[in-house]
Amino acid sequence: MEQDEVLRLWAEHISKGQTTLIGAFGFGNDRAHSAQGAWITLSSGRRILDFTGGIGVLNHGHNHPKILNARIDYQRRNRMEVHKNFFSPYAAALAKNWSDLMPEDLEVSYFPSSGAEAVEGAVKLAYKYHAGRRGTILRSNIAFHGKLLGAGGLTASPELNFSFPTIPGIDEFMFGDLESVKRAVARHDHQDGSSDVYAIIIEPFSASTLRACSEEFLRGLMQLCRSLNIVLIFDEVYTGWGKTGSLFYFMRHEGLVPDIVTTSKSFGGGKSSISGFISRRKIFEGAYRTSADATLHSTTYFGFGEEAATALAAMEIAVDERFAERALDLGAALQQGLEHLCATYPDFFIEHRGAGALRGVRVAPAGEAFFKMLAVLPGPWHADAQFAQKLAVGAVISRLYDEHGILTYFASNEPILLIASPPLICEVSDVEAFLVALEECAQYGLPKMVSDFCLKAIKR
Ligand SMILES: Cc1ncc(COP(=O)(O)O)c(C=O)c1O
Repeated sequence: MEQDEVLRLWAEHISKGQTTLIGAFGFGNDRAHSAQGAWITLSSGRRILDFTGGIGVLNHGHNHPKILNARIDYQRRNRMEVHKNFFSPYAAALAKNWSDLMPEDLEVSYFPSSGAEAVEGAVKLAYKYHAGRRGTILRSNIAFHGKLLGAGGLTASPELNFSFPTIPGIDEFMFGDLESVKRAVARHDHQDGSSDVYAIIIEPFSASTLRACSEEFLRGLMQLCRSLNIVLIFDEVYTGWGKTGSLFYFMRHEGLVPDIVTTSKSFGGGKSSISGFISRRKIFEGAYRTSADATLHSTTYFGFGEEAATALAAMEIAVDERFAERALDLGAALQQGLEHLCATYPDFFIEHRGAGALRGVRVAPAGEAFFKMLAVLPGPWHADAQFAQKLAVGAVISRLYDEHGILTYFASNEPILLIASPPLICEVSDVEAFLVALEECAQYGLPKMVSDFCLKAIKR
């Protein structure tokens, strides 16, 4: 199939909106032929350094040989795990190994297919633990927990700019602000003083805003939840398996342990669509102890054979290849370089943020007048309050790809950040190449870059 044909079929049969959006960039018009490690090879033979890290999926890079072998081995043996009548040794081993890596009694897990399913399964477990006697769940004002109806209601990102129906009883607190959590909890006290809050869900490190909760906040949150028997859920769908410099973000703080943790993305080693949540034994047993409860939560693909076998290998690699330490090394180089760029080009880069190998910079708008002019043009951006930010970052992403062969992305929360999320198999020299390219963008200047981007997008 020619690339034009691919784009036409996408526009006609998948999403015209997505085709327009991604098609404004060079990569939306190129064909990826193959990928290995941090590198993508296009049909043209051009090689691209993938600094998106697959938006969290590619800690192991593309096609890690041990991940491929795990899948090939599974297939060669004609393994069979399509139905639920036989207990899968792969799912059993996966649950045991994850439990061994987690602190305290985080011991019982479940493996659906996507991050939002893991979030919703965790929330459902917390609700059932309280036997339906409590009706409120709290989430932060910058939360991102997925886009299904339930997870979408728990998400506060401006990316979800349409109000869908969702689970009842959601209230909000300010990220990282314990007093705000306490006020939100107090809003849902019953007359007898007991709490109506069954769960609090939070990303201890927000992957879409690159904001971290302080240790003090997280310990205070844990104490508050314990004192009121509120189930504390840490969403580490993005940050799990080493990305921020510890196996899971919360594990950098000794003794800080939530009641449920969610994971996905690199859990599948870049090949398998598997997610998971792991719960304290007492929470799980309080919710789904009896055989009458045994099938209250299940999904067709849970713990599916080849996906679980892949996740087993992915977990082993993350530990054996010291992903958390690698993230710290890459992160130190990124932090130093981004600090230098922010100091040298203060009119271009407003700030940098991040932890481990998940970093980002805020790009300054290229002048009020320019954006005001664009705002009066007809187009879908009228409705988008973040259009000016997206345009500036989009122009940088476009130049990094077209001129430097480096793929990056922006995170759709507030503010819009250009994200550098290298796979953890990258070397510090890859980070240096990225920083050199980013500096060239700053030297080129935003007004020229934005107008190049707009002209190319029109032609594309
Ligand atoms: C922290 C977090 N939670 C949940 C999700 C939802 O995962 P999925 O897109 O697989 O449903 C994401 C996805 O980016 C995420 O970053």
